Amino acid sequence: MNNKTISDAMKIKLEEIFPELPSYPEFVPGIRRAPKREFVLSEKETVLALKNALRYVPEKWHGVLAEEFLEELLTRGRIYGYRFRPKERIYGKPIDEYRGRTLAGRALQVMIDNNLDIDVALYPYELVTYGETGAVFQNWMQYWLVKRYLEELEEDQTLVIASGHPFGIFKSHPTAPRVIITNGLMVGLYDDLENWNRAASLGVASYGQMTAGGWMYIGPQGIVHGTYSTLLNAGREKLGIPRDKNLAGKLFVSSGLGGMSGAQGKAAVIAGGVGLIAEVDYSRIKTRYEQGWIHTIVDTPEEAFNLAYKCVHEKTARAIAYFGNIVNLLEYADRKNLKIDLLSDQTSCHNVYDGGYCPVGLTYEERTEMLRENKTRFTQLVDISLKRHYLAIKALVSKGAYFFDYGNSFMKAVYDAGVPEICRNGKNPDEGFIWPSYVEDIMGPILFDYGYGPFRWVCLSGKDEDLEKTDQAALACIDKRRFQDLDNYNWIKNSRDYNLVVGTKARILYQDAVGRVKIALRFNEMVRNKEIGPVMIGRDHHDVGGTDSPFRETANIRDGSNIMAEMATHVFAGNCARGMTLAVLHNGGGVGIGKAINGGFGLVLDGSERVDGIIKTALAWDVNGGIARRAWARNPNSLATAVEHNLNSGDQITLPYLADEEMLASLVRRKYVPGGK
Ligand SMILES: NC(=O)c1ccc[n+]([C@@H]2O[C@H](COP(=O)([O-])OP(=O)(O)OC[C@H]3O[C@@H](n4cnc5c(N)ncnc54)[C@H](O)[C@@H]3O)[C@@H](O)[C@H]2O)c1
Repeated sequence: MNNKTISDAMKIKLEEIFPELPSYPEFVPGIRRAPKREFVLSEKETVLALKNALRYVPEKWHGVLAEEFLEELLTRGRIYGYRFRPKERIYGKPIDEYRGRTLAGRALQVMIDNNLDIDVALYPYELVTYGETGAVFQNWMQYWLVKRYLEELEEDQTLVIASGHPFGIFKSHPTAPRVIITNGLMVGLYDDLENWNRAASLGVASYGQMTAGGWMYIGPQGIVHGTYSTLLNAGREKLGIPRDKNLAGKLFVSSGLGGMSGAQGKAAVIAGGVGLIAEVDYSRIKTRYEQGWIHTIVDTPEEAFNLAYKCVHEKTARAIAYFGNIVNLLEYADRKNLKIDLLSDQTSCHNVYDGGYCPVGLTYEERTEMLRENKTRFTQLVDISLKRHYLAIKALVSKGAYFFDYGNSFMKAVYDAGVPEICRNGKNPDEGFIWPSYVEDIMGPILFDYGYGPFRWVCLSGKDEDLEKTDQAALACIDKRRFQDLDNYNWIKNSRDYNLVVGTKARILYQDAVGRVKIALRFNEMVRNKEIGPVMIGRDHHDVGGTDSPFRETANIRDGSNIMAEMATHVFAGNCARGMTLAVLHNGGGVGIGKAINGGFGLVLDGSERVDGIIKTALAWDVNGGIARRAWARNPNSLATAVEHNLNSGDQITLPYLADEEMLASLVRRKYVPGGK
């Protein structure tokens, strides 16, 4: 086989997109760059990595690019193919500006470009959207090929993508997904960070996080709603705030103003409280400040708490950024015996040793430098810092703060840093950790178990008026069946005033199965009536049935099945079978490789009756798959929801009979034999 035969057998290829090797692009100073990633390849493996990357490139450019790719690998730990990075600004343009044979093909290009928009993405040059490592593709060659495939895609074809790499387009049928994506799925024996890092350097694995690799990220707005609901409900559950009141006069302290964590200050303010957030990277504080999501920036813990208490006493909602390390802020609060109501953390602890967590004592720049120059020392400093962080939280909790893990694997990272006392059993995480995660205490029982999750939509026309019309339509669809519906109603009613849109015209709205189906059908009708342009609906993977992770989404599943990853897999498969436009399955997500399997979807509303059918089947399944699992685990709110579903739909969820625990305990006490008979 020679390269001419190979090239002649492909219509979509890099040299068709670039007749000449493009000139090397400039890097605009001030745009955040990903730190060097772990590079552990041997000489032989390095050859393999280069050979792998050159698979995308015609032979005539191999000489130039082999050297360039090697330089990228040695200095960045990955091959990004910077040369192929588009020179013009990438952003989610109105759908009419994209080429493509299908609406879906054009719609998905909007989503990709939105995920890589400089205003949206964390490290746009390295194709990372959020969560430190959450990538849309591994390299720019994949970006171009996928975009070309989407242009060429027909109504009876499916594009298949594995860790950013397009396998190609294959004949399917009009009601099959147009695109199926997997990211970072590894064989169990190798499913750990070390092997993943090797695979990523070799160019065969991508970390999709959740909506980054699933192309459904809509900026930090996506998490503002979830964080708002979490804080509000934490206040109700733990601080005794009545259901009709907000967090006025309460102080929430946390860290991180990055991709997702950036929502914390804004969410605290929407909930009426005071948010004090530590952040070591000034550029991220600046982004949030310019957006109006942070009101004041302070440099010392003293200033931070003085201002925070002033606002607490005046009951003024305020978002304060402390430019510095969270450990310094918390140790100060402990030393001065300061009262904190709600306490959390949203540094990127799912990946502490690769830049996600800045050790106390280092500035952000020093952290980047040390990561590159002395990884061993960096790792030691991370462990020392996490221990101090843990001790400060422990002290503050003993003084009345309610601490919850915010799904970033903080407690697992503390354990890995050498603190077994953070485990419930004092030894290992098998029985969980001493503090609850927000899913265990709040989001699981109050939202997910009923089916409420982060439903979202993007107005593909790019028109603000379409967003306004969809907001109004969604508002009209909400029946106030439960108190959660009232919160969601208030959210969408005020959403425009929150000024949340960054990137495409998108909206997040927590809804249960009934609400999602109702709203989607209404939107599709509006598209049909030409009241609005086409709409992409989807959700965060962090949802009722989207993710299996004992460290987060399924932390409140206690029948022993929280180590199983079958719910997310079934939800993904069921979404494919029922014709979602896009179906996605990933390893990792918010808590790290090997710790979660998560999936998502996208559905283009084109106004057709065919799509009405998909909404009624797929969208309902997407939530009810999760309800079935949660009900089978005996979660009371899911059981009630499943009973209601069985009585009001043609579906039947298998429901668990409930056993008398005391009877069982007494039986086992009498008859138990260690190791069995
Ligand atoms: N709970 C959820 O719903 C949810 C959703 C998304 C992400 N997450 C998790 O939250 C974490 C953060 O996500 P993100 O997208 O914001 O990541 P990110 O990397 O964009 O932001 C984290 C921020 O923390 C800052 N930081 C790191 N160490 C610090 C320290 N010691 N003190 C102060 N600031 C520090 C970083 O500079 C960065 O800006 C991730 O682990 C992610 O998986 C949780």
